[in-house]
Amino acid sequence: MAGLGNGKETKMKRYREIVGDGGSAVLAQVQEQRARVESRLARVRHVVAVASGKGGVGKSVVVANLAASLTQQGRRVGVLDGDLNGPAIARMLGVGHQTLRVERDHAAPAIGPLGIKVVSMALLLPRDDTPVIWEAPTQDDAYVWRGTMEASAAREFLADVEWGELDYLFIDLPPGAERLPHLAGLLAGRVRGAVVTIPSQVSRMIVAKAVVLARTAGIDMFGEVENMAGYVCPRCGAVGDLFPGDDAEAAATSLGLPSLGTIPFDPRIALCADRGDPFIAVYPDTAAAEAFAAVASRLDALLEACG
Ligand SMILES: Nc1ncnc2c1ncn2[C@@H]1O[C@H](COP(=O)(O)OP(=O)(O)O)[C@@H](O)[C@H]1O
Ligand SMILES: [Mg+2]
Repeated sequence: MAGLGNGKETKMKRYREIVGDGGSAVLAQVQEQRARVESRLARVRHVVAVASGKGGVGKSVVVANLAASLTQQGRRVGVLDGDLNGPAIARMLGVGHQTLRVERDHAAPAIGPLGIKVVSMALLLPRDDTPVIWEAPTQDDAYVWRGTMEASAAREFLADVEWGELDYLFIDLPPGAERLPHLAGLLAGRVRGAVVTIPSQVSRMIVAKAVVLARTAGIDMFGEVENMAGYVCPRCGAVGDLFPGDDAEAAATSLGLPSLGTIPFDPRIALCADRGDPFIAVYPDTAAAEAFAAVASRLDALLEACG
């Protein structure tokens, strides 16, 4: 940074140099990309970005199972995995072994067992344990750099992938409160946001930041899903408390969001996610499968009402 006495001066462009974009054509490129994204999404009815603030709350599992429930309810669904560092969606939706088909003028999504279309960085990596390496000058820069790279990779996917006709395109965002605003510039007016929390004060505190930031960026936040709300006893099927905490409805209200519903903790959800089997199809008569279906119906009703 300039003026810190480290002898290095970074020269920033002045606004006069940016007028007409100083010849670098960045502005024109951004506009062109935005136009491409718009035409790629022309046949997608609802774009829903799902954020959580905090990692490990089950956001990807919720996205995967909502995608499956909506598909069972007759909707056409695609999922874009926006988490480049920990891509999980491809595996959870049973396409982990496929590769992304990249043609000259577009990329074609992988198609999972239920017909769900999936795009993920994981489908470009040679092996499951191959990390995406982010070059950053210092460790301090790494987080910011990663966020920026993730946002631009998501933009490239949105500009290149041909989804075809979809009722829902879910974007599974990486953890971090600022992820939704990153999308706003590109998908302004086209994307709505939902959040996933668990019944803990820490999770809710962090997700509240995500909601405030998203709203400030002009994103319509339409609902909250509370995951791991209670534990399903594998012997009798009864649901007991997993975390102490107030009820989900009150938590959603404090975020100023409608509650889309709650999902209990059920070890078979994790098992199916790891195997890439659709939980709701393998265990249809469980409290958790019914909960996913109820959340999917609520989401569908809310968004259909929005037009
Ligand atoms: N309701 C649930 N019941 C059982 N396991 C769950 C549930 N929700 C998430 N998990 C498991 O918790 C772990 C973290 O979930 P994941 O969806 O990867 O979190 P996130 O995307 O928020 O980082 C995974 O192993 C997942 O299978
Ligand atoms: Mg995830």
